[in-house]
Amino acid sequence: MKVIVCKDYDDMSKKAADLVISNIIEKPQIKLGLATGSSPVGLYQYLIKANDEGEISFKYAKSINLDEYVGIDSENEHSYKYFMKKNFFDHVSFNEGTNILPKAKDNDEKYAKDYDKILDEFGQRDIQILGIGENGHVAFNEPADKLNRRTSIVKLADSTIEANSRFFASKEDVPKYAISMGMADIFNAKTIILLANGKKKHQAVKRLLEDESLSTDFPAGFLSLHPNVYIYVDEEAYRG
Ligand code: GLP
Repeated sequence: MKVIVCKDYDDMSKKAADLVISNIIEKPQIKLGLATGSSPVGLYQYLIKANDEGEISFKYAKSINLDEYVGIDSENEHSYKYFMKKNFFDHVSFNEGTNILPKAKDNDEKYAKDYDKILDEFGQRDIQILGIGENGHVAFNEPADKLNRRTSIVKLADSTIEANSRFFASKEDVPKYAISMGMADIFNAKTIILLANGKKKHQAVKRLLEDESLSTDFPAGFLSLHPNVYIYVDEEAYRG
């Protein structure tokens, strides 16, 4: 794992964006794995800027996302689809239909199987952008006795509901379930870029960098098995 300690959120976003930009210049038909959450918003802004300035284009690129809340309409402002449109897709030059997100109307595992098929057709991603949960979750793979290799419907940890309630009117409004790409598919990317900023992420970052054991109660730890991971972390998350 290559660790890049950045001054602050903006510096982290810019440095990570530079890596993505150079990959897009090299391979315009890039396949991107994208993430939601506050961590990648700055990176998306730098990609939008590079697109606006003509440095890159997403015309030949495709993207696929990690996760989505269960039972949430894509027009709902809390859906990850809405988030991606607002923060990224509406501002760049992707061709219509090339941005894929999972969807699940209810807890039926058939939605997970459907997404596995879509992932298989999509093929290996060149880059996967990732955030990290305060509890070490990746996408919505929560700490548990077992982790899933492939897509599943997951019950969100209380701590995740708490952390994500900042985006909702109240904690009660946060969906209790999500559909999430599994660990094997997340890692099926040539390069992984993990973003972590702010004091709240310090414990997770410390464990990721210092604890050499692997445990399903810390899903992010499995990133160390991947040969090409870049961790962009700001001073606050790095030093606490
Ligand atoms: C959310 C998402 C994750 C995200 C993480 C961190 O629950 N499912 O994909 O990486 O939590 O979010 P944030 O970047 O807002 O801290």
